[in-house]
Amino acid sequence: MGYWSSIRTHEENGTHSMASVTSLTASVHQRLADALTAALPDAGSADPLLRRSDRADFQANGILALAKKAGANPRALAAEVVERIVKGDVIEDVEVSGPGFLNITITDRAITENLAARATDPADRLGVAHTDHPGTTVIDYAQPNVAKEMHVGHLRSAVIGDAVVRILEFVGETVVRRHHIGDWGTQFGMLIQYLLEHPHELDHRSGSEDTAVSGEEAMSNLNRIYKAARVLFDSDEEFKTRARRRVVDLQAGEPQTLDLWQRFVDESKIYFYSVFDKLDMEISDPDVVGESGYNDMLEETCRLLEESGVAVRSEGALCVFFDDVKGPDGNPVPLIVRKSDGGYGYAATDLSAIRDRVFGLKADTLLYVVDARQSLHFKMVFETARRAGWLNEDTKAQQLAFGTVLGKDGKPFKTREGETVRLVDLLDEAIDRATAVVREKAGKVGLTEDEILENGRHVGIGAVKYADLSTSAVRDYKFDLDQMVSLNGDTSVYLQYAYARIQSILRKAGDARPVAHPELALAPAERALGLHLDQFGELLMDVAAGYEPHKLTAYLYQLASHLTTFYDQCHVLSDANPPEVVENRLALVDLTARTLHQGMALLGIRTPDRL
Ligand code: ARG
Repeated sequence: MGYWSSIRTHEENGTHSMASVTSLTASVHQRLADALTAALPDAGSADPLLRRSDRADFQANGILALAKKAGANPRALAAEVVERIVKGDVIEDVEVSGPGFLNITITDRAITENLAARATDPADRLGVAHTDHPGTTVIDYAQPNVAKEMHVGHLRSAVIGDAVVRILEFVGETVVRRHHIGDWGTQFGMLIQYLLEHPHELDHRSGSEDTAVSGEEAMSNLNRIYKAARVLFDSDEEFKTRARRRVVDLQAGEPQTLDLWQRFVDESKIYFYSVFDKLDMEISDPDVVGESGYNDMLEETCRLLEESGVAVRSEGALCVFFDDVKGPDGNPVPLIVRKSDGGYGYAATDLSAIRDRVFGLKADTLLYVVDARQSLHFKMVFETARRAGWLNEDTKAQQLAFGTVLGKDGKPFKTREGETVRLVDLLDEAIDRATAVVREKAGKVGLTEDEILENGRHVGIGAVKYADLSTSAVRDYKFDLDQMVSLNGDTSVYLQYAYARIQSILRKAGDARPVAHPELALAPAERALGLHLDQFGELLMDVAAGYEPHKLTAYLYQLASHLTTFYDQCHVLSDANPPEVVENRLALVDLTARTLHQGMALLGIRTPDRL
């Protein structure tokens, strides 16, 4: 789904036109393509390379290459195209510049009409289309590990995954969420055995209803058990043996063992859900399908791989080899699907999950929002699934790999004591800082204490999400709270203030309503803002096609910057303005606010009305 193909198909394809507005870019593109074909019939579907430009509204740079191919003089061809372009309704003016570029100016009327069409979209989608070929995407994200503290890596997966889910759903894709939590493995033998021998440690669950534990308490219970079990495991050989036997019981599904295991999972979920809740993120229980959920498939997965010859036995283990994956010693590094002791690992589970997602959930796209340090694992897993025929040309599997979160010093984020930073502490600190920022301005806006606290949460969590989403996922980024809550710059709070400021203008407008007046001439800053709003639909298609939320943050930041320039140059509620200018400008800022709100919502960030 490329940028241009999405525009062209939406013009040709009538099915979505009701809910979408033809963008000015698409209209100009169409007129240019028509004129080009008329001037040079061979040009066919040639790309005029239309771009937004500072010199005019648009610039088309494609004629040079076309003329070269046709052996024509570029300036002459450009002049011929200019002559054939339909002018008046959308295109105000078009002229040849340089060796054969076209500078195109849009009519004020078309800009305002376009905004009005977006603003009154009956589907309330601001004129944004759906994708032409929606499919089913299964997205694997927000996958913490049972009985372990969540860290910043889990934050990234959750934040990026949540934004991608929202964006895909908005453009019409069917999305199935899978939270592949780490809830299986040998460490559970140790934990379960410990709990069996110290049954009072998680007693509260068997008690009455009113013994509900908080996320913090749940985690501290788990931490305590984990540490105690570890100490015993490392110091007591007999306990170690009992713990190892317990793993076998777990894998065999022995009821009492499963029951104890379930208590760890439940206790962990109390904690996970409290963190996701703090993150203002909805994770629904049926979507939490941890590693254990594929346990029944592991044996068959291995059998299928071995029967088809995709996997072979090597030193007792079941392995898949790759020509291009070698260790430092030059020897091949295989993907181990079953260890020599018969135990199944992470890869067997992921391969089984692929079978489930492709054949059970009927996915045509599989996404994995996982740390870049697991890229080799996914490369090998996908290749194995392809060899086995579980993935083919019709199914796409892609890891949305993300980089590491760094401290201010540029090193992986750690506490002063060198420990991993607890996610909850980080979020609480962000909320504290944000609340202080909100409080400083609260008097002017007349916020109550409750509103200050609520806004503080939205600004603080928004700041963390925005910082994460505004760098392209694969890059590392520095976790810098001072920068994140700064009012000036590419931050969520800057966008949140832009939104709240418009809401304040709309409140002050009294009886004046946002009404578009296409007959009015526009000031340069109005045109710039309007033309930027026009790009929202195509931008979202692009963001969705490449799973790139950072392009959406960049768009929204530019939108807020255009708005700032607009305020500097144009008054909205000035007595000097004729009523229709006031109405038209209200319409412009209202659509800006709705676009900001929609864009931020797609990133999982709230936009308070009063800030
Ligand atoms: N639980 C894993 C971790 O914390 C991430 C799981 C990623 N998903 C997957 N299907 N392997 O690193």
